[in-house]
Amino acid sequence: MDKRTSRIPGFYDWSLAERAARISQWASLDADEREVLGGMMGLGLSQADRMIENVVGVFALPLGIGLNFCINGRDYVIPMVIEEPSVVAGVSYAAKLLRDGGGITATSSEPVMIGQVQVLDVGDPPAAEAAVLARKSEILALADELDPVMVKLGGGARDVRVRHLRRTPVGSMMIVELLYDCRDAMGANTVNTACETLAPLIEGLTGGRVNLRILSNLADQRLAMATGRVPAELLATDEIPGPVAVERMVEACAFAVADPYRAATHNKGIMNGVDAVVLATGNDWRAVEAGAHAYAARDGRYSALSEWWQDKDGDLRGRLELPLAVGTVGGATRVHPGARVALKILGVRTARELAEVMVAVGLAQNLAAIRALTTTGIQAGHMRLHARQLAVAAGATGEQVDRVTQRMIADGVIRLDRAEELLSE
Ligand code: MEV
Repeated sequence: MDKRTSRIPGFYDWSLAERAARISQWASLDADEREVLGGMMGLGLSQADRMIENVVGVFALPLGIGLNFCINGRDYVIPMVIEEPSVVAGVSYAAKLLRDGGGITATSSEPVMIGQVQVLDVGDPPAAEAAVLARKSEILALADELDPVMVKLGGGARDVRVRHLRRTPVGSMMIVELLYDCRDAMGANTVNTACETLAPLIEGLTGGRVNLRILSNLADQRLAMATGRVPAELLATDEIPGPVAVERMVEACAFAVADPYRAATHNKGIMNGVDAVVLATGNDWRAVEAGAHAYAARDGRYSALSEWWQDKDGDLRGRLELPLAVGTVGGATRVHPGARVALKILGVRTARELAEVMVAVGLAQNLAAIRALTTTGIQAGHMRLHARQLAVAAGATGEQVDRVTQRMIADGVIRLDRAEELLSE
């Protein structure tokens, strides 16, 4: 059992070099990997040129570390790629609260993706459905032939199901769906190949005409779920007793459950955390975004992905569930040097473990947001960071940074010229 702690007090105030050294040590990064982390050696032009078309350069973003995470009894430091200030600080603060409540528990389903084959002009839909289902084992076997390595690793085709869309803008259609266990791959290529290969057989069985053959990003067979608890007394402030703080946070969540306008923002906050890890590990964040928001509307009305409530002891409890189609092999995860280093820092062994980490980060990020929103508001944190950035921009170093930052906040004047003035005092 890994007994290292992700609780590293003061990390925020260390120099960038000190922070990088500590994380390099945590993950036993070699010299090349340390250079990748330091931006000296990341994604090269020739690699980039092989990844997409019309390449003219590469584009960098900050990589921060979310701290304090204890998930299923194991400590993780979380690489997060994001351009927005306060996200990494917020998630680390919330992870500490959840840690003090016993840590986050995360689970995941088997990594099963859904591939869809659209069939039109079906003369007798019930008979076509029966014909497809009668040959299910043949369809599964054909899909399995395409990727023997996946099958050897324990993945492969799991099921075939049929749905009928009776009223679409072009009339009725039949959808044949392949459920495919992708193990540690995100699986888009494998599932799309399987759907394309199965199409002629499905046309033959249904007597219809196949149009689309593509995976679904509503990956509701590939879910991850996290729960956590925060003791009420940890949420108390000078002005607000713990139970009142809990009540306000529960009210904040109720707003998002009931109102799509609020739910969109609430879920965006969750995805601030999830996406940052998706990006850091070279996964497809558009796929994850699409899945999350479609899942949030699964009951016919867009709602919150998480729930927060007060338990019988008066403490705050939260739960988050969302589809997470992410991999630790394939795609950019192994091609992008930064993603490789991020995966090494995370130390996850499987795609399921990666999804469990991501959903835990989403839960903590959501907690950070509703905590800030029900207390000081989110601008205070943003302005503190902004003030700090201005202090540094004005030339402050060492303890000057804190002095100048604190004065600007206390005076309520957060501007570069003021930082310069304070620095020369
Ligand atoms: C900002 O990026 C995210 C929040 O708006 C999320 C939320 O409102 O819950 C703070």
